[in-house]
Amino acid sequence: MLKRVLRRWIHKTNPLQDRWDYFQENDAASLVASHLIKAIPDDKLTDITYLETELIPALGLNNENLHEQPQELSPFMGTGLHVFQYPNQLSRYLAWLTEHAKETRHYVEIGSRWGGTFIVVCEWLRRIGAPLSSAIAVDPIGETPMIKRYGEHLVGDGIDYQFIKDFSTGPVVKAVFEDRCPDFVFIDGDHSMRGALADHMLARQCARIIVHHDISSDACPETTALWQALKELERGVFAAEEFIDQYPSVKGSFLGIGALKRSPMAEPG
Ligand SMILES: C[S@@+](CC[C@H](N)C(=O)[O-])C[C@H]1O[C@@H](n2cnc3c(N)ncnc32)[C@H](O)[C@@H]1O
Repeated sequence: MLKRVLRRWIHKTNPLQDRWDYFQENDAASLVASHLIKAIPDDKLTDITYLETELIPALGLNNENLHEQPQELSPFMGTGLHVFQYPNQLSRYLAWLTEHAKETRHYVEIGSRWGGTFIVVCEWLRRIGAPLSSAIAVDPIGETPMIKRYGEHLVGDGIDYQFIKDFSTGPVVKAVFEDRCPDFVFIDGDHSMRGALADHMLARQCARIIVHHDISSDACPETTALWQALKELERGVFAAEEFIDQYPSVKGSFLGIGALKRSPMAEPG
């Protein structure tokens, strides 16, 4: 009885608790995802229809911000990895990674939340044969049981996994960038213009691939505007590619992935 009352009180005072509990009970979801991604045949690695309609829904989608989510995908929401992406955008992004990210050694995701996208991208990099030697997730909300279990899996495979429970502006992240010089950074943390630009400047010291999230979102006007500016300002140093397909069943434009790939003529440093 006391346990039930305490549990109800915790859920009331901490809205993240429900999902935390979910990941406590389903911490093996990442291992299922890893298995699914490892089993993809080579010819499907750039098959957008397969990725969009079969693989990504099977990995499980997030169920936050439901007004941004297409109703037709509701059977997959709140399941598995809780991937916080639209399948019609993520599929095209994964196919792009197949062509462009094969050399990644050090991957960082700023704003990893539950860990869904982090896990998918790390597994994708491994599947396409990238020589991944470190993978770092950053989020002040802390390490969910799912991402923790996945990290142990990476470490077991000899990959240096680190979870940094802090803001990207903190000293630990700064030290990691100085030490590792990550070559691929996914930016999805602070969605203010100033915050996302600071993350971009941090990443561009080393990265050959920088990816911004929420680049075509009515809910995130600052990251959307920043992306428009970066595409112009970085022209000549980075080639830009964007994955911004929308769902007609959703009112408005949401999410969006913007990838920047450094030109071989503009090496960092
Ligand atoms: C939209 S969610 C990220 C979703 C995740 N990338 C995914 O695809 O599943 C944004 C996350 O960024 C985190 N965040 C906010 N400001 C941050 C910062 N300065 N550095 C790192 N993370 C930050 C928040 O706690 C939140 O969990």
